[in-house]
Amino acid sequence: MVDLRVNLNKFELSNPIIPASGTFGFGYEFSEFYDINILGSISLKGTTLNPRFGNPTPRIAECEKGMINSVGLQNPGVHRVINEEIKKLKKVYSKKVIANISGFSVDEYLQCVEKFNEVSEVEILEINISCPNVKDGGISFGTCPDSVYNITKKIKEIAKKDVFIKLSPNVTNISEIAKAAENGGADGISMINTLIGARFDIKTAKPIIHNIMGGFSGPAIKPIALAMIYQVYKAVKIPIIGMGGVMNAKDVVEMMYAGASAVQIGSANCINPYACKNIIESLPLLLEELSIKNIKDIIGKAHNV
Ligand SMILES: Cc1cc2nc3c(=O)[nH]c(=O)nc-3n(C[C@H](O)[C@H](O)[C@H](O)COP(=O)(O)O)c2cc1C
Repeated sequence: MVDLRVNLNKFELSNPIIPASGTFGFGYEFSEFYDINILGSISLKGTTLNPRFGNPTPRIAECEKGMINSVGLQNPGVHRVINEEIKKLKKVYSKKVIANISGFSVDEYLQCVEKFNEVSEVEILEINISCPNVKDGGISFGTCPDSVYNITKKIKEIAKKDVFIKLSPNVTNISEIAKAAENGGADGISMINTLIGARFDIKTAKPIIHNIMGGFSGPAIKPIALAMIYQVYKAVKIPIIGMGGVMNAKDVVEMMYAGASAVQIGSANCINPYACKNIIESLPLLLEELSIKNIKDIIGKAHNV
């Protein structure tokens, strides 16, 4: 029997598969399809302090080997997430989850952290720093090492849970950003978020997405994610949750070779609600074929060959 258990610091997962934030709702919706307790954990839909309606439609565009979304962090706000959504999830899921937090000011992040601190079902706070920092004129928190250091440090001062900083790939030097998060006290890194993308109608020349640009994800971004995870694994000592274009068990293995301790599945859930289940079921067979007995042994293996 292959041992699929992995650790994110003190959090032990029965397997490394975690649905990615924004692509699996609050989880309970998927319990109509299968017993979601087979998942390693779940990264909940991105949550902000106040409810958000999201961006105007159309906000999804299909692409070759991927998709563009500009959902715009639609969510019912932290109060309802805690008092309604997590309560519904608790009825069908017995493991700990990852709360994904977004904000438009440092204060918004801190208020969400304080609220999630009191939720026993939450084990990790995943901080999405790809949102625009309104005070800095709309520049994303995640693109400047100093802001990454500062926001991480402030969150760590009050957080009662492990803090994983989720990195944007829309930067020049991802290792520098990851290092800034580690220096600020981060307990781990989640990577990568979506790349910037756009599509235009061939007949009318109109943008397909209402906001013109959105976040590009799916199989096309896998090589970028792998290269970035490989670089960040070299730069930091804290664990990495890897994601970006993972569609099957082979992709999971590749991502762990690059340095991921666990793997999130995003766009694949938008194509097939059974994506995570299929991957969890095929992973032991693939590892047996590769003569791997313990999945932990493959974390960062590409760095030792
Ligand atoms: C429809 C959609 C919504 C998303 N919403 C969020 C979000 O709220 N917070 C976040 O951190 N990432 C969000 N993401 C990014 C994913 O969590 C993931 O980082 C990205 O899609 C790359 O993985 P993939 O190629 O497997 O989809 C979203 C992605 C998609 C496709």
